[in-house]
Amino acid sequence: MPATIVVGTQWGDEGKGKFTDLLSKEMSMVVRYQGGHNAGHTLVVDGETFALQLVPSGILYDHIVPVIGNGVVVDPFVLLAEMDKLARRGVDTTRLRVSGNAHLILPYHQQLDALHERHLGKAKLGTTKRGIGPAYADKAMRLGIRVQDLLDEDIFRQKVEGSLTHANKVLTKVFNRLPVDPAELADKVLGECLEPLRPHICDTIDLVHTALEGGQHVLFEGAQATFLDLDHGTYPFVTSSNPTAGGACTGAGIGPKHINRVLGIAKAYTTRVGSGPFPTELFDEAGETMVTVGREFGTNTGRRRRPGWFDAVMLRHAVRLNSLTELAITKLDVLDSLDTVKICVAYEIDGQRVEKMPYHQSDFHHATPIYEEVPGWKTDLSHATEPGHLPPAAQHYLDLLEEQVGVPVSLVSTGPGRDQYIQRTA
Ligand code: IMP
Repeated sequence: MPATIVVGTQWGDEGKGKFTDLLSKEMSMVVRYQGGHNAGHTLVVDGETFALQLVPSGILYDHIVPVIGNGVVVDPFVLLAEMDKLARRGVDTTRLRVSGNAHLILPYHQQLDALHERHLGKAKLGTTKRGIGPAYADKAMRLGIRVQDLLDEDIFRQKVEGSLTHANKVLTKVFNRLPVDPAELADKVLGECLEPLRPHICDTIDLVHTALEGGQHVLFEGAQATFLDLDHGTYPFVTSSNPTAGGACTGAGIGPKHINRVLGIAKAYTTRVGSGPFPTELFDEAGETMVTVGREFGTNTGRRRRPGWFDAVMLRHAVRLNSLTELAITKLDVLDSLDTVKICVAYEIDGQRVEKMPYHQSDFHHATPIYEEVPGWKTDLSHATEPGHLPPAAQHYLDLLEEQVGVPVSLVSTGPGRDQYIQRTA
């Protein structure tokens, strides 16, 4: 049976959680395939807001098995706190499954993340300081500790010791900090996390394949986004995993033949958190409107997001990188009050018109956007739930966007609520 991937197409915070949640109705399983608690998915259900970090959005549906795949990095303390918070609000978390092959983020990864950032000074990446980079670095250096290691105390203690042999050298010799005691840390993790996590740890590869073989519909939920991808993003201002659709294969243990739908999520404008190039970035009133009306502050970190116009050059590239079959546009209502709205359709680089993403990043750094400007709709869209409810100017904006990007815009979100959306095509 088919599998769907939901992927962010810009620099994150596109509102993936809402559409993952919406599609969840048809799904039996929702699998997170990369990233960690650097993500923040906000869902508004029956007027109640849920901010999820690690737990897949499908947790809010009783018929769904939410899965944390092997490609995710898991802070066990954060995961348990999130599960506890959900349980206290009446959400059943017993169905959650966590891959034994996922890697752990431990407190020293977070400490190293913050120290690296401070060490970089002005060149800092603006990470979430959640330990994501150091945990994936340990994985690549074969010093990582996997969730399954928790189930074998001797192995777990050995691995913590091995990983800290390296990390403590960095902490003490590079950053002049105190070393972490491996036995103390292992005691804390085993003491506080093992028993509550035990029932959730399993072979998620078998789980996912059994579901697919049984004809069930599985949704793969990406965190972060295409231009934060370690390989395809604006390196080094990226995260340390592969949010692009290909990441679902490695991060969940499936081959590409299963995937028949890749839904890209894009905001009707663009935002970015942290450092890095951003050709359509705005420093004017329109940008301020996007930040204030769109409440563009990090779900978990509270950081103000940098605003800018929709960039169709980037989106065309995202279509290629992810094999997008369609697009969902979010936060269209945020632009309701603007007199005119712009779409970047090409860049000017060294006097040349460029319509494709420049492969050399220096070009991207000094690309000047070429805009197509269209009239604003000056109408409150928050109650629009059918294509016919859209004023002609808003319809025109979506048509232009669709034409520029080259894939159908099948869904449009007009507010944070679960029901505030328009289905444009079947
Ligand atoms: P890290 O993922 O914490 O290592 O941060 C690397 C970069 O990715 C920084 O620019 C972060 O701001 C950005 N980033 C990480 N997670 C998110 C997210 O969920 N939304 C938007 N940006 C993110």
